[in-house]
Amino acid sequence: MLTIALPKGRIAKDTLDKFEKAFDEEFVFEDRKLILEKAGFRFLNVRNQDVPTYVMHGAADLGVVGLDVLEEKEYDLIKLLDLQLGRCKVAFGLIKGQELDMTKSKITVATKHEKIAKRYFEEKAMAVDIIKLYGSIELAPLVNLADCIVDIVETGATMKQNGLEVGPTIMESSAHLIANKNAYYAKKDVIFDLKEKIEAVLQWD
Ligand code: PRP
Repeated sequence: MLTIALPKGRIAKDTLDKFEKAFDEEFVFEDRKLILEKAGFRFLNVRNQDVPTYVMHGAADLGVVGLDVLEEKEYDLIKLLDLQLGRCKVAFGLIKGQELDMTKSKITVATKHEKIAKRYFEEKAMAVDIIKLYGSIELAPLVNLADCIVDIVETGATMKQNGLEVGPTIMESSAHLIANKNAYYAKKDVIFDLKEKIEAVLQWD
């Protein structure tokens, strides 16, 4: 049995869709149930940011998670496959008409992606104040909580509707299949077989 942590929402649905095609079985979570067991797999329905935690601790052998979340956690996990789902980027959001003022002595950035933002400024040897938020990040520059934001941009609509412009991109992200290191070595054959089947589905999709 392989245990796979899936992030709640669309990525879980799209991932299960790939499994349906790969195994010719129906994989659907029942109503509020958080575990789905079928065809030798046990899927866990967890919060996006919690996927790497389940995999790191070995509570799940595998997980599906955006690269942005993985980078933020800095866990030592194996990246098995790009599922080519949930494509987005982590980028700056700036007040319309403003640019990122790199000459400013200190920039204040509001973000959910603290570590990614911090690393960006460290690489440029720039001083930064990071304000950690958990959602509605686009609001921060509008009420002077921060000079700018670092956030996920998919269509860019959220920034646009809130008077922000998409600034420089820090990283591109998409959902990846990840593995716990011990599980990967202990269950290598079954994990490899799964990876090949999913890869084949990605090729025809
Ligand atoms: C993300 C992000 C933006 C929005 C960007 O939020 O924080 O608000 O999506 O998408 P867009 O470019 O297509 O407008 P999400 O929906 O993941 O919710 P969250 O803030 O609760 O994480």
